Amino acid sequence: MHDYFLFVGLPYIALFSLIVGVIYRFNSDKYSISSLSSQFLEKEKLLWGSVPWHIGIIVILLGHIVAFTMPSFLHALVSNVRILYTFEAIGLTFALFALCGLVILFIRRLRNARIQAVTSNMDLVVLSLLTIQILLGILTSTLFRWGASWSTHTLAPYIQSIFLFRPDITYVTSMPLIVKLHIANAWLIILLIPFSRLVHIFALPLEYLFRLPQIVVWNSRKQEEAVIVAQAEAESRRYFLKALIGITGGLILLVTGIADKVIPFFRGAELTKKEKEELLNNKLEKMKAAIKQKELESERLTKDFIYVADLKDLKTDEGMYFTDYQMKPALAFKGNNGLPVLYSAKCTHLGCTIINKVKDGKLLCPCHISHFDIKTGNVIDGPAPKPLPQIKYILMDSNTQIVTNIDTTKLNEYKVYIVKGENT
Ligand code: FES
Repeated sequence: MHDYFLFVGLPYIALFSLIVGVIYRFNSDKYSISSLSSQFLEKEKLLWGSVPWHIGIIVILLGHIVAFTMPSFLHALVSNVRILYTFEAIGLTFALFALCGLVILFIRRLRNARIQAVTSNMDLVVLSLLTIQILLGILTSTLFRWGASWSTHTLAPYIQSIFLFRPDITYVTSMPLIVKLHIANAWLIILLIPFSRLVHIFALPLEYLFRLPQIVVWNSRKQEEAVIVAQAEAESRRYFLKALIGITGGLILLVTGIADKVIPFFRGAELTKKEKEELLNNKLEKMKAAIKQKELESERLTKDFIYVADLKDLKTDEGMYFTDYQMKPALAFKGNNGLPVLYSAKCTHLGCTIINKVKDGKLLCPCHISHFDIKTGNVIDGPAPKPLPQIKYILMDSNTQIVTNIDTTKLNEYKVYIVKGENT
């Protein structure tokens, strides 16, 4: 029940609050869409806190956005182990960078009397939630490695299901507590955006970067000098912001792979015939996979039994992959008694796909090394919290009649089917 509230109710409340709250603030007082600068009260700590915090969080958010909007692209990218390591290292580095900045900002708010005077309770709540969020993110990425990979087939489909108004919490309910808290806390932060200084993320002062410098004419020499210094500072801030936007843009290009296309464009590179063929073949394969996926979905919607395999083709030491009624990967083996044994191939830890080879009577999840007993599906070791669910089956004979009394002399004639409603 609380899962439904945290992962369905809370997200929709948060998104509703975000949209309505921000529109209301824009309409009622558009000048309140800012973070109320306290720079004139204290500059030094602000610089050391604000710059790392903003650079860190922008990169982290971009990474999350790419994972949630282009999961297949990211999954393909991080299937190269070197790229996966690089992504994880970049993510962790920038998260630590953001955390350092946040801690400095927090201390500044608590210890400087002048800043304290302009600090609201909401500022402290938001700073606390952000600190908790970054810590949970760092814990998630260190305790449950390779998030850039597993999040693409667990968190990304969950987020997409929320935005498509078809919420599916099965992707997150079996997640470890830390990951669940990270998700729920993110929704809470989104909920608070319109009521806090976080709303300034919708007020990027882009025109400030490109407008002409303002000319202020003073009569007094002293004031004139002060203006020159202030203008020089403003100019250097502009350069800094432009550089920041440039770096962020560069990262976006890099991460989304657009650079791959832009560079050959300027180089005038032409694809060779072989490369074009490969490209077309890739596209064809993708289209075939998409069609196959749709066929599987419609078969599961319309049929009461789904064919898995001929019993004679199943092996005891190597599982045959198939797709269950929930469109999740599953494995079919032959048990020692000659009858089928079917398991969900979705690891109960973070949803990675189980390897189909049996070694020493065990099945392996490669993501964080969990072993499962091939006879029972029970966890032998590793972080998986629950056994692999067994999938019920029926046998049909060569006349496509359901076998009610198994004749062990005819096992090779039997076909294995899964049944609608039996494994939901
Ligand atoms: S997903 Fe972590 S052990 Fe399987």
